[in-house]
Amino acid sequence: MIYLDHNATTRCDERVVEAMLPYLNTMYGNPSSLYKLGRIARSAIDTAREQISALIDAAGARIVFTSGGTEANALALANARHRGLAVSAIEHPSIFENAAYYKHWFRDLQTIEVNGDGLVSLPLEKTSWQTGDMVSVMLANNETGVIQDLAAISEALAERGLNLHTDAVQALGKIPVSFKTLGVNLMSLSSHKIYGPKGCGALVVSEDFVLKPSQRGGDQEHGWRAGTENVAAIVGFGKAADLAKSELGSRQTRMLALRTRLEQSLRTIPGLVIFAEKAKRIPNTVQFGIPGISGEMLLMQLDQRNIAVSSGSACSASSGEISPVLTAMGVDVRLARSAIRVSLGKDNNESEIDQFVDVLKASIAN
Ligand SMILES: Cc1ncc(COP(=O)(O)O)c(C=O)c1O
Repeated sequence: MIYLDHNATTRCDERVVEAMLPYLNTMYGNPSSLYKLGRIARSAIDTAREQISALIDAAGARIVFTSGGTEANALALANARHRGLAVSAIEHPSIFENAAYYKHWFRDLQTIEVNGDGLVSLPLEKTSWQTGDMVSVMLANNETGVIQDLAAISEALAERGLNLHTDAVQALGKIPVSFKTLGVNLMSLSSHKIYGPKGCGALVVSEDFVLKPSQRGGDQEHGWRAGTENVAAIVGFGKAADLAKSELGSRQTRMLALRTRLEQSLRTIPGLVIFAEKAKRIPNTVQFGIPGISGEMLLMQLDQRNIAVSSGSACSASSGEISPVLTAMGVDVRLARSAIRVSLGKDNNESEIDQFVDVLKASIAN
């Protein structure tokens, strides 16, 4: 099979599985237990925290383990309760839909528009901002791969005493991410996008941010996230972070070379449009459309040839719903409906890219 959907999930690295295994059988202690078996589990969690902190340059910040990016995002939003909240129009549903559902929590809820390249423009002229209000802007978009200039955004917000949360799930392990340089207050991460296990993630919290828990019932994670820790998954996340740190340069170079090869071939297809082509994007992602072609149909044809890609959206052929991200960027509906997202991984190779392009061309011709 040719797997080109790494923004959806990645295969657990063998080295990650190896690191996790002992914590599923021999070292099964509860990290809250005071005896040796418990202390071993506690220490493994501490090591994972250090590994993740090292990957994102977050010394001094708190890393609160969660069940994934979705929960980390939900915890961040819960901390905007009773305050004003602004979220960008291209956020993952775990931000966008949660914010809309819990609208009543917030003093005021706004959507931040994006331009044709998918870049946010901050509504800083808004006069009703109050100190402590929160803005949520993702670092890299899961569909288009567009990277926001977060450092500039955080600087502008800090001047006004506003908090910034970023969903860095798709940026992690693909580009250097520095929690400190970005200057954000909260950052969401997910393990399964970086060759770690599913069901594990973290919310990174700056030293000066007073985090309120959204679930109670135990003192785990210093009371910020009650519930017995998923020790094996956390160990796996830590190991995946460690590998991402040491291999980041080579992974980036490799994925960019593959994407360049792919894009060169895609440009030879008449009418094909690469979304946000000119914007700064994570090196593994390309989303494109071909007018008049159904993305869903194309996806199924590729699946029949054992190639996994995504339409990159919560798009459903039956409902005719199209990607909110592309809609926000002002992409024509017909073009947006044809969207296909290819997201490369560290183990893809040139031959897979060439086979994908051949099958794509043949499917379009049919
Ligand atoms: C940008 C972004 N945020 C959050 C999530 C959710 O992460 P998780 O699957 O760990 O809940 C995803 C997953 O697709 C994502 O792409």
